Amino acid sequence: MTKSRENRDNHDPGRRKFLKGVGIVGAGAAIADQLWVEEAEAAEQARPAGPVSGNVKVTLDVNGQQRDVQVEPRTTLLNALRNHLEPAVTGPKLVCDMGTCGACTVLLDGKPVYSCLVFAIDAVKKKITTVEGLGSPENPNAVQAAFVDHDALMCGFCTPGFVTTISAYLKQNPKPSLAEVREACKGNFCRCGTYPRVFEAALAAAKANAG
Ligand code: FES
Ligand code: FES
Repeated sequence: MTKSRENRDNHDPGRRKFLKGVGIVGAGAAIADQLWVEEAEAAEQARPAGPVSGNVKVTLDVNGQQRDVQVEPRTTLLNALRNHLEPAVTGPKLVCDMGTCGACTVLLDGKPVYSCLVFAIDAVKKKITTVEGLGSPENPNAVQAAFVDHDALMCGFCTPGFVTTISAYLKQNPKPSLAEVREACKGNFCRCGTYPRVFEAALAAAKANAG
C-alpha cells in the first residue's frame, strides 16, 4: 500500500474533531483563534441531545441571502453549497475533502474555515461568505482585482480559497509584510505553484485598500 493510500485509510473522518483542530488552524492560520473553537463547542452543546436523522430543513445565510435547503445532518457546508442549494454556490471548490488544501475556504462570521469540515447544520445563524459574496466581475474587491491584474492563477482551483483567505486576512492586518502574507496563506495549497503571484497580488491588494 502506498504511503498516501495508507494515510487516507487511516484518516479519521470525525469532521468535528478536525474542526476543533486542523481545520480551523489550517484555514487562515494567522487569524484563527481559540475563541472560534469555543464557539463551535458551544454550538455543539446547544444542539438537542440524541440522534438526528433523515433530512432536516435549515436556512443558511449565504452572501446576505437566506437560503432554505434540505440536508442530512452529516452534510458538509461545502456539499450543501455546491450540491443542495438551487442555484448552487460553486465558488468554494471540492479538492481534498479532508481539510488539507484550503480550496473550499469560506468565511463564517468573517473567519476563514474549511467548509468541507463544517456541517451545514452548524453554519445555521452564521453569516456565510463565499468568494462570490466578496465582489462581482463588475465590482471585484481589491483582492479579486489584484489576482486578475497580477495573473495570480493557472488552473484556478485554489483561487477562490486564496482570495477568501486573503480578503479576510487584510481586514485583520491591512499592511502585511510578505512574510505575514505567506504565513496567512499557509492553509491554502496551489498545486500549480503560483505562490509568488498570489503573494504579489495580496500585497498589491493591501496597497490598493490603503488608497
Ligand atoms: S480543505 Fe476542503 S476541499 Fe481541501
Ligand atoms: S492555480 Fe492551479 S492549483 Fe492553484
